[in-house]
Amino acid sequence: MSDGAIAAANSCPQGASIVGADFRKLETPALLVDLAAMERNLATMEAFFRHRRAKLRPHFKNHRVLALADRQMAAGAVGLTCARLWQAEALVRHGIKNVLIANEIAGEAMIRRFVELSHAAPIIVAVDNPRTVDDMALIAGEARGLLNVVVDIDLRLNRCGVLPGKPVLELARRIVNNGLRLRGLMGYEGHLQPLPPGPAKEHSVSEAMKALADAREQLEDAGIPVEIVSCGGTGDFAIAGSYPGVTEIQAGSYLLMDTWYAPAAPQFEPTLSVLATVLSKTEGKRLVVDAGVKAVSGERGLPSVKDQPGLRVKALHAEHAPIEMLEGDTPVGVGDTLELRVHYHDGTINLHDRMFGVREGIVEEVFTIERRPVGIE
Ligand SMILES: Cc1ncc(COP(=O)(O)O)c(C=O)c1O
Repeated sequence: MSDGAIAAANSCPQGASIVGADFRKLETPALLVDLAAMERNLATMEAFFRHRRAKLRPHFKNHRVLALADRQMAAGAVGLTCARLWQAEALVRHGIKNVLIANEIAGEAMIRRFVELSHAAPIIVAVDNPRTVDDMALIAGEARGLLNVVVDIDLRLNRCGVLPGKPVLELARRIVNNGLRLRGLMGYEGHLQPLPPGPAKEHSVSEAMKALADAREQLEDAGIPVEIVSCGGTGDFAIAGSYPGVTEIQAGSYLLMDTWYAPAAPQFEPTLSVLATVLSKTEGKRLVVDAGVKAVSGERGLPSVKDQPGLRVKALHAEHAPIEMLEGDTPVGVGDTLELRVHYHDGTINLHDRMFGVREGIVEEVFTIERRPVGIE
């Protein structure tokens, strides 16, 4: 092969040219999304929030696809939630300006970029630390009034956030005294999301919501207005989204879902699979496909083989997955493709640049998965 032919083959885009083709023609491994299932998930969430006081501000970090953020906005979202500053920058550049960074930022470089972005759009960031509040005011100078923040409360996830009670009021006062714009409160009860639906979950989530409601009352009693109370995920959106005083839900997984999360939120269907090619077959024993941990996350468990109950993924190597034949030999052979159902979507999406939207076996759309620009947090 000439150098030119090699370069052309390597740059062969699985992009526009594949639209309209059978998805099995994609170069593997390839991340697929079942469009009809995704649309049902979108519609289920839209229907829940349509006539509710609380609104949905879906999390962008799960899919990181601007075209899907647009669809969520069209389906009634009030804005987007995200985890990182670069994600907020990407959304604002794209034209979605009502963005909550449901996470902390820290350090001069990040705060400078937040200040810069705040000149372009009223993005909101979570704070849990007086040091960051002081740094924000110092760095923004006269523009400090442009900075929108919410106090992050630790609802016992034991991650970020101040503890309920006095620390919330102290931080809120510090924000106000520093001249920043305090918009309200947030908390993320992530440890409660995977609980199975039922009264025990309802009780635990309501307790977490009460901590937020109490904090709201505490601030309002001190004369500090609270416009936003943001919390909730896919596993508890219905409980949190019905709790009095909650104004926004941050659920993100619901759109694409995965087989790990599905038991906790059975209203939503897992939509993702990784298309893989059988590279090797040992008759009656195993197949080996070309999708390992670089193509599908094994962090929360192994993927399953779609529509093939007699096949079980045994392990994920870097570039391979051995698949056991549980019921003797299978007609699947070398060169055939299989779909691995994604068990942990957030970790899997992170491994891909593109996601192929499939309907009735045909590639209908190619989605670009946004990436952190090089050299930026
Ligand atoms: C702060 C925060 N909010 C919301 C979410 C989205 O929740 P879910 O994945 O349950 O939809 C996450 C997910 O990790 C999160 O970290």
